[in-house]
Amino acid sequence: MENIDWGNLGFGYLKTDFNVRSYWRDGKWETPTVTSDETITMHMAATCLHYGQEAFEGLKAFRGKDGLVRLFRVEENARRMIRSAEYLRMQPPTEELFVEMVKTAVRANEKYIPPYGTGASLYIRPLLIGTGPQVGVKPAEEYMLMVFVTPVGPYYKTGFNPIKVIIDRSHDRSAPHGTGHVKVGGNYAASLLSGDWGHSQGYPSVMYLDSCEKKYIDECGAANFYGIRDGSYITPKSTSVLPSITNKSLRTLAADLGLKVEERPVAVEELATFSEAGACGTAAVISPIGSVYDPDEQKTYTYGDTAGPWSVKLYDALRGIQQGETDDPYGWNTII
Ligand code: PLP
Ligand code: COI
Repeated sequence: MENIDWGNLGFGYLKTDFNVRSYWRDGKWETPTVTSDETITMHMAATCLHYGQEAFEGLKAFRGKDGLVRLFRVEENARRMIRSAEYLRMQPPTEELFVEMVKTAVRANEKYIPPYGTGASLYIRPLLIGTGPQVGVKPAEEYMLMVFVTPVGPYYKTGFNPIKVIIDRSHDRSAPHGTGHVKVGGNYAASLLSGDWGHSQGYPSVMYLDSCEKKYIDECGAANFYGIRDGSYITPKSTSVLPSITNKSLRTLAADLGLKVEERPVAVEELATFSEAGACGTAAVISPIGSVYDPDEQKTYTYGDTAGPWSVKLYDALRGIQQGETDDPYGWNTII
């Protein structure tokens, strides 16, 4: 076990020992290799550099109460990576290759998986890039899939204490995440201006509205949004929201807890009707929202200084499964 201050980890890159790589060359994926090299050498005309032919994933491994290491819903990340690759005309990995490379990367860096009870976990970042050269706008003929890992703590410094969110109608993220079912790194660059603007106003997270009419909630920074009202878990349905695997899991758990689940367009004004709100994602887990400020309407919607009761229940249910504290009735975990 590495000498790391697990309890005080933030969400950043901490060097680990190994990463795993495979190239698509001459019509096939090569057998993955394990390397300690943190750099990539590629052609200066690689399509990932010029035309954004790249997609990434994010998932976590947890060390459980029983000492076992669990990957959460890795097949879902594999399928989303395949959809992203198809959308960007990249060579998709097979689900088996993706899962195998994730497992290899986690096993090779076993000493970096945070101990149970520290609140930290091992963040896993699979990345698919077009490495072959093109000058015309055409798909590459060579691709690299790689997986690196890094131990992480909470995404927001506040941890499970509610965050402050600001609505941004001014900076467009451009078609964020392509069509709403792919996870494209290049699109994140278009959200940096908005994120920096939010931070400069004193808000760790920005809320995006639908890019067409600015009437409906899309999502919050790098996380999906949910609100709770009168026994319902309400989350936006929108073509420009990334289909979060965490949100998908929470919809299942919410129904199990007796909440009605509504996935539909959510108008901004509905913020006034929620008793609780939260941001959810692999990195964000559940980050309860304390308030949402709408600078254009000069209105603040508040939800309190501590996490609401449903957010606590949902968090406990999700974390319980991920850390092996409770049963895993849907078979979401892969033990490695
Ligand atoms: N929304 C965006 C824009 C994201 O980047 C992420 C992170 O992956 C999410 C939502 C949450 O998705 P997931 O729960 O699959 O990590
Ligand atoms: C995730 O939750 O995995 C994300 O991708 C968020 C972010 C760090 C990009």
